[in-house]
Amino acid sequence: MKFFVDTANLDQISEAKDLGILDGVTTNPSLMAKEGIVGRENILKHYKMITEIVSGDVSAEVISTDFDGMVREGKELAAIAPNIVVKVPMIKDGVKAISWFTQNNIKTNCTLIFSAGQALLAAKAGATYLSPFIGRVDDTSWDGIDLIHDIAHMYQTQGFMTEILAASIRSPKHIVQAAQAGADVVTCPLKSILGLLNHPLTDIGLAKFLADHNKAEAAVG
Ligand code: G3P
Repeated sequence: MKFFVDTANLDQISEAKDLGILDGVTTNPSLMAKEGIVGRENILKHYKMITEIVSGDVSAEVISTDFDGMVREGKELAAIAPNIVVKVPMIKDGVKAISWFTQNNIKTNCTLIFSAGQALLAAKAGATYLSPFIGRVDDTSWDGIDLIHDIAHMYQTQGFMTEILAASIRSPKHIVQAAQAGADVVTCPLKSILGLLNHPLTDIGLAKFLADHNKAEAAVG
């Protein structure tokens, strides 16, 4: 399973890269706004900077909601670097735009996925990645991990190549559950990835190893 970070923060992206486990980056308009990136030129420049840090896929989302606008924006985004993936919302014109991008060899990430039916349509249009929003499904009292499981089973049965990119991940537990349910990729804040490190028995065990080592060293002088 691939690990992406879901952020437009360059420091967080660099820190994840330094860890040696980073496969890519996802962003969205909210995450870009959070970093204070406004204006088309600045947005394009910021994406360029992300692609200079990370060699894996970087999802850059269109703002337009009509077919012509999405294609125009997507072409502009795809021209930034070969590892740009055009992120398109699951709406009627979005499905049409994904088909167009697929026919023109531009990678896509179909976002705002909340049902298996939407996942079927995105795969049929040829989306490279599919982004089901686990946390937001959980927020409604439905089950986001069940959704990943259902889509993974459906894609496997039908032989679709679209990669399931579990998004809106809120915890380390979500990452493990998404992996178990068949996600190809998880995207989340670095904090959730670092949370996978933690276990009290690791800390206790390490402290004991070091104490025993120091005791043995002291005994021999
Ligand atoms: O990748 C989608 C993600 O950014 C949404 O996360 O926590 O706002 O639901 P959240």
